[in-house]
Amino acid sequence: MSETQASKAKVDEPLVPIFIMGKRYEIPSSLTIQKALEYAGYQLVRGVGCRGGICGACGTVYRVPGNHTIKVGLACQTVVEPEMRIAVLPFFPVNRKVYNIRDVVPGPEIFAQFYPEILRCMGCNTCTKSCPMDINTMEYVSAAIRGDIAKAAELSFDCVMCGLCTARCPGELAQYHIGILARRLYGRYIAPRAAHAREMVGRIQQGRYEDGLQQLMATPMEELKAIYTKREIEPELSEDDWTPKSQENL
Ligand code: SF4
Ligand code: SF4
Ligand code: FES
Repeated sequence: MSETQASKAKVDEPLVPIFIMGKRYEIPSSLTIQKALEYAGYQLVRGVGCRGGICGACGTVYRVPGNHTIKVGLACQTVVEPEMRIAVLPFFPVNRKVYNIRDVVPGPEIFAQFYPEILRCMGCNTCTKSCPMDINTMEYVSAAIRGDIAKAAELSFDCVMCGLCTARCPGELAQYHIGILARRLYGRYIAPRAAHAREMVGRIQQGRYEDGLQQLMATPMEELKAIYTKREIEPELSEDDWTPKSQENL
C-alpha cells in the first residue's frame, strides 16, 4: 500500500480542517503534516526524505488560530492542528562557503572569515526556539563566535540541517553551515585519532581482504544472496565488545 493509500485508509477518525498553501482540506486528526499533504493529494517530490525526523528535508512553517506567532517544525514529525495554515519550505536559500577541509587553518577566526555575518548575531535566541531537534543553536553560534571549535561541534552534533533556524534568524546567519564547519574542523584537527580505525586501514592496505573480495566478486548472484541472508547480524542490544562467532573475515 502506498503512503497516500495508507493515509486515505484512516477515515474512521475525526476530520479537522487545515489550510495548505491557502487551500482548505479536511484531514484525519492524527496525521502528521507530511501525511496530511499526501492525504490531500499532493505528491511529494521535494521536502521529503527519511520520513523519520533525521534528514531535515521537510522544514515547514505554519500558524494556528488565535496566535500571531509563526511556528516551524518538521512536516514528518508535526501532527496537524485544526485550522492550521501550512507552507512547506523544502529549501531555504543560503550562501555556502566552498572549501577543502585539508587546506583550512583551524584558527579561532575561521568562522567569521568564512561566514562574516556570524558577527551580526544579536543573541535573540530565535534560532534555539525554532529548532525541531531541541539544539541550543544560539549557544553553538556563540561558541563559534568565540572560536571554540570543539564546543560548537559538540553543541551542533544533532543538527539535521533543516534550515528552520536560518529561516527565522533576524541576523541572517546560516547557522547549520557554521555548525557543520565546526564538526568538520573538529573531526579533522581536534578529535583524537581512533587507533582501531588506523589498524583496520593498515590491514586493508596490506591486502588482508583482497582474496575474500575477489572470491565474492566471482560468486554467482544466487549464492551471494544466500550468504547475505545467512550472515550473522549483531544483536540490537549487544555489548560494546561484541564480535561475530566466525573471526574469518576480521
Ligand atoms: S536567531 Fe540569529 S541573531 Fe538570533 S541568536 Fe540565533 S543566530 Fe543570533
Ligand atoms: S540547528 Fe537549525 S538547521 Fe540544525 S536542526 Fe536546528 S533548526 Fe534545523
Ligand atoms: S522527511 Fe526527513 S526529517 Fe522529515
